[in-house]
Amino acid sequence: MTTTPDLLRPHAEQQFASELAALAAQDDRPRPPAWHLSPQAVVTYLMGGTLPDGTVISPKYVGARRLVEVAVATLATDRALLLLGLPGTAKTWVGEHLAAAVSGRSTLLVQGTSGTAEDAVRYGWNYARLIAEGPSEAALVPSPVMTAMREASVVRIEELTRIPSDVQDALITILSEKTLPVPELGTEVQAARGFNVIATANDRDRGVNELSSALRRRFNTVVLPLPATFEEEVEIVTRRSAQLGTSLDLPTLPAGHEEIRRVVTVFRELRSGRTLDGRTAVRPPSGSLSTAEAISVVTNGVALATHFGDGAIGPDDIAAGILGAVVKDPAGDAAVWSEYLETVVREREGWGSFYAACREVAG
Ligand SMILES: Nc1ncnc2c1ncn2[C@@H]1O[C@H](COP(=O)(O)OP(=O)(O)O)[C@@H](O)[C@H]1O
Ligand SMILES: [Mg+2]
Repeated sequence: MTTTPDLLRPHAEQQFASELAALAAQDDRPRPPAWHLSPQAVVTYLMGGTLPDGTVISPKYVGARRLVEVAVATLATDRALLLLGLPGTAKTWVGEHLAAAVSGRSTLLVQGTSGTAEDAVRYGWNYARLIAEGPSEAALVPSPVMTAMREASVVRIEELTRIPSDVQDALITILSEKTLPVPELGTEVQAARGFNVIATANDRDRGVNELSSALRRRFNTVVLPLPATFEEEVEIVTRRSAQLGTSLDLPTLPAGHEEIRRVVTVFRELRSGRTLDGRTAVRPPSGSLSTAEAISVVTNGVALATHFGDGAIGPDDIAAGILGAVVKDPAGDAAVWSEYLETVVREREGWGSFYAACREVAG
C-alpha cells in the first residue's frame, strides 16, 4: 500500500509506517505466528520509547502500561480482546494501533450498529453472480472477519454491544470453534494462527444489547479509564491536538499551554462535580465531557485563532467550544454552566477574560 501525502486521515499503519518498520527491524524477540512484531515491541509502539539505533517511537496511548500489556498478551492467546470504557477513552484509537502493530493493518473492520447484519460478520453474496452461476467461491463476498481468519490477521469490531444479539451469536461459533462454516458450498473457513478479534464497547451502552454471557466468556476485557490525573489529561490533549493540528496545517501549541490547561480544568471539574482544589462542589452537566471533546475544543480554538484571530489562541477562541461541549441538553445544562461560571470562573484569578468571553457567547 502506498501512502499518498494528501490523505485527510491516513490509517495508523500508513501514518506511522517508519516507526513500525524501525521496530520490526530492531525486534529480536520471538513473534507469535503471523505477528509483525513481538508482544514487547507492540507495547513499545503503543507506549512510546527509544530504539537501540536512536529511533524515537511516539507514545500513542497515554496511561497505564500494564493495561496495554494485558491487551497485547490477550491477543497472543486464543481469547479475543474487548476494550471497554466511557466515550472518548481511546478505545477505537488503541484498537486501531494494536491491529496496525500486530497485523500490519488496521483496516479489517466491522462497524457495529443496530443495523449490522449477519453478513457483516460471516459472509454475503454477489447476487448477480449467485443468480448467474449459483453458489460458488467466486460469488461469495467474505466479511472482514472471514478475511482475517483466512489471512491470519486481527479484525476490529467497533461498538460490539450495538450489534443485535442474534448477529452477536454468530460470533460465538467463530470465536470458540475458530471456524466459519459455509453450508451453501459445503465448506468451511478455518482460522489461520494469528487470527484474533479486537472489539470495543461503550460503558454507557450497557443494556442496549447486553453481551450474552456465552460471548463475553470468549473475551478478555480491558477497561480503559478516564485520564487519572490533571497532568496526564493535559499531556493527552497537548499531544493529540498537536497531531491533529499538524495534519490540518495549523500551528502547534507549546506543551501545557494555558488554554489547554483551562479546558482540562473546566472538563475535570464539571465531570467530577468538584473544583480541582476540592473546595467547591459544582453540578455536573448531562454529557460525558470526554478527553476526546477536550481535544476538539482545543483544535477548533487553534483554527479560530489562526483563521479569524491574531494567530495566538486565547480565552475567546475556546469559550464557544466549551459551551457547545457542556450544554448538550439546553434545558438543564445551560443552568449548570451559568452556575459554574458565577460560582467558580468569575472569582478565579487570571480567568477574568475567559469569564467575559463565556458570558458573551452564552448570550
Ligand atoms: N489515554 C489516552 N491516550 C491517548 N489518546 C487519548 C487518550 N484518551 C483519549 N484519547 C484521544 O481521544 C480521542 C478519541 O478517542 P476514541 O478512540 O475515539 O474514543 P472511544 O472509542 O473510546 O470513544 C482520540 O484522538 C484519542 O487519541
Ligand atoms: Mg470508539
